[in-house]
This record gives sequence, structure tokens and C-alpha cells, in this order.
Amino acid sequence: MNSSGRRLGLHTSTKLSFEDLVALVDRGLELSRGVPSKSFVGRNVILAFFENSTRTKVSFEVASSHLGMTAINFDITGSSLAKGESIKDTAETLASYEPSLFVVRSKESGLSQLFEEWTGVPTINAGDGEHEHPTQAILDITTLVERFGSIDALKRRQMAIVGDVLHSRVARSLSQLAVMCGIEVSFVGPDNMMPRYIFPGIARHSSFEVERYDILYLLRVQRERLSHGEALEVNKYRSHFSLTKERATHIGSEQVIMHPGPVFPGMEIDAPLIDSENSLIRRQTEISIFSRMAIIEAILEGSIND
Ligand code: CP
Repeated sequence: MNSSGRRLGLHTSTKLSFEDLVALVDRGLELSRGVPSKSFVGRNVILAFFENSTRTKVSFEVASSHLGMTAINFDITGSSLAKGESIKDTAETLASYEPSLFVVRSKESGLSQLFEEWTGVPTINAGDGEHEHPTQAILDITTLVERFGSIDALKRRQMAIVGDVLHSRVARSLSQLAVMCGIEVSFVGPDNMMPRYIFPGIARHSSFEVERYDILYLLRVQRERLSHGEALEVNKYRSHFSLTKERATHIGSEQVIMHPGPVFPGMEIDAPLIDSENSLIRRQTEISIFSRMAIIEAILEGSIND
């Protein structure tokens, strides 16, 4: 928090107000239509990714470059972390180079919040373990608003978030923003991939009936996060929860398919469906640039309110 009690960065979807979300969505869509962005020439953003990423990392680099900023990639593998330097010392050292912003991805929950507390530098959570991925959720809602015409048009639409909900930070962040927009969310998946906590207002289904939903949001099966007791039965998963060509024959022209990526074709979805007319998967990636530009603008201008 700064002296006015305002949050500095963006760590969770939970803290985002509906007004913040609407402003970020509107601004992201304006930027996507070519409205000029703010300029932050001469300011730096440090990307500290302690876990692998393609989309989030590169889209933040591109977004910050469109805003006139210099993105500095902190290379974990070649860093002094390998010599035993602590993450706190690392954060404080990086802060001494006076970035305007940190973007942090981590295997552990809460590291972006700690970066901000240790350094006082606004920090964006780019995905922390199984906890949250708020910028993914914001870009997903932005993509839906573009497709359906307005945030009001999302009300009472049915969204299935399908698959490995238990391990998914995307499911946690997106479901909260979707409910905020009046979307009726269902978690769909096998019992061993359902969260152990209750989300008020979110239904659970152990069968995937594609025709019930306006929005089919497929999650990546996170094989790297499965424990020994949670072995993945690929064929069983595929027959019950994949968006296969056979299952897709029940989809109408208004229904949309989404996935945060990286997609594992043949597991969560059959490859030809990724570029089908129903699919927003490529558009999610394109919109991510503008959505992240809007988020950076809002944070640097202090206009996200708690
Ligand atoms: N959606 C997402 O976070 O993808 P990356 O892991 O490639 O950044």
C-alpha cells in the first residue's frame, strides 16, 4: 500500500473492484483499436520469472516496449541465486537499479506481494504457483467482452472451466472475475482435479456436456504439478473431458472455446479445433498485449483502486 492506502501493484483478482475491471477492459480494447497509449519513455520494468513462461513474459516485454519502457529480463539461470543469494537480497538488489515496475512469476504463492513489500516497487503477479494469475483473467474477460459486445452481455452466460481446476491459478483468478461480471461459472472435471475448497456461487460437474455452455474454457493439464497420488490417466481424461472433434459436433456457432495456453493438442483439445471459428485461443494471445499495456498504465498512474 502507498500512503493513501492504495494498493501499488496487482497480486490477486480478489482485490480488483468491478470498476477497476471495467476500466482495464475498456482501456485494453481501446488500445487494441489503435487509440494512442500513454508514454513512459525512460522508465524500466524488470521481469523476474522464476518459472517458465512464453506468453506472459513476451507479452509483458512487448506491452512495455509499446509504452516506451525498457524491459529488463532478469536471467534466473545466470544469476547469483545459484551462488546462494536469497530471493529477498535479489529483489533488493534489483530495486536499487530503480525500476518503475516488477513483473514476477514464481512457483511459490505470494512472491509478487513479497517483492513489493521488500522493495516498495509496484509489482505485478505474472502467476504464482497454484494461487493466482490475475493478468490472464483480465485479458480473458477482455477477449470475451470484445466477442460478446459489452460487459453487460456477459451476464447470465454459462461458462465451463474444464479440467485441472485443483492446480490451476488461472481457474482461481478467472472464476472470480467471471462471477463478478455475472457469468454463471461451473467447474467441470474429474473429482481428483476439483478444488478442496468451496467457491460460493460456482457449480461443479463431473461430466462435460458441451452444449450447456456459452464459454468452454479449457485448462491445461498441469502434469508437472500432479503429485504421485494424482497420476493422470490420459485416455480416461481424454474420453471424458477433452474437447474432441466428436464432442465439438454438439457446439453451436455462438459458443466460444478458450484456453490460456500452452495448449497440449490431443489432451485438452483436438488440434483442428484450436483454429476453428468458435475458438478465441489465438485472440486471447493477441489481446494480451493490449490488456497488459492497460494494466501497466493503470499501475504507473496509480489508478487501480482498492
Ligand atoms: N498462459 C500463460 O501463463 O502462459 P505462459 O506460461 O506461456 O506464460
